[in-house]
Amino acid sequence: MIKHIPVMLGQSIDSLNIKESGCYIDATFGSGGHSQEILKNIGENGLLFSLDKDQDVFKSLNKKLKSDKRFRLDYGCFSQLEKFTKDWGVHGSVNGILFDLGVSSHHLDTAERGFSFKNNGRVDMRFDQNSRISAHDLINNAKEEELADIIWKYGEERYSRKIARGIVSARKLSIINSTSQLASIVNKCVPKIKYDTKINNATRTFQAIRIFINKELDVLREALDSSYRILAPSGRLVLITYHSLEDRVIKDFLVHTDRNLSTPKKLPVQGEFLSKMFKLIKKSIKPSLNEITTNRRARSAKLNVLERIQ
Ligand SMILES: C[S@@+](CC[C@H](N)C(=O)[O-])C[C@H]1O[C@@H](n2cnc3c(N)ncnc32)[C@H](O)[C@@H]1O
Repeated sequence: MIKHIPVMLGQSIDSLNIKESGCYIDATFGSGGHSQEILKNIGENGLLFSLDKDQDVFKSLNKKLKSDKRFRLDYGCFSQLEKFTKDWGVHGSVNGILFDLGVSSHHLDTAERGFSFKNNGRVDMRFDQNSRISAHDLINNAKEEELADIIWKYGEERYSRKIARGIVSARKLSIINSTSQLASIVNKCVPKIKYDTKINNATRTFQAIRIFINKELDVLREALDSSYRILAPSGRLVLITYHSLEDRVIKDFLVHTDRNLSTPKKLPVQGEFLSKMFKLIKKSIKPSLNEITTNRRARSAKLNVLERIQ
């Protein structure tokens, strides 16, 4: 098992601009790498609320974190952050929210979670084990056209139609059960020479299915939309993204919340949306070469920092 190394740890924690008695949220707890660093930086009156929709994270929660009075971990989706902050009694007074998006090392390393073709397991890809539809249901039941659209939209895969056809004809022979079966079907549909050979050609299709199954872009949009009400004035949003679709959601959010950039014709502009709500503090900062060499998961990471205007 590969040890989890938190991505862009120093830069992301610096970007939260931590106040000793501040209140912070780690919206994607994972193995708790960023949460532990936030706790090191806040004082005894500071608070950290963390969230994850994967119940496995509770199994590996260490004693030190469990007994830290400044810390609380809840199970849930960050699209519900507004409800959570009301329950926690910190709505409107949060000084910073960190999002380290996407898949964790635990997901990729644990074959039974069905995220990885390197660790063969039953295809699943749900962050939340309680959610109804898994990747297994999707690839064995969805119509060819729907599969093609998903692989195109969320994987930006130019062979999406061919792959969808390949999946549908393979499943006529037998159920597609494992991640390696799925990867091999995809690889047969994509000409190897067309792409960078260092990346397995199934990567884009796996990404697409994962994003669809977990509604990753929709929940990110919902969380951003509620963040203005959750944050205190000058509160920060620190986002570590791993692909261009997430970056586009952030970019659209900035446009939608800036009167100078958005066109009222396109939007039902009202109330608080009438003025600029956030300023962009850092845009698409990449990890250092050194970090990329020591932590492969960091290679596609980008850091974006937004600050709520007073
Ligand atoms: C990249 S990992 C976070 C790693 C963490 N920063 C660390 O250093 O240990 C992303 C985590 O966010 C969780 N996650 C993804 N989408 C989520 C959502 N919408 N709501 C809550 N948790 C989510 C995943 O289950 C995963 O554990």
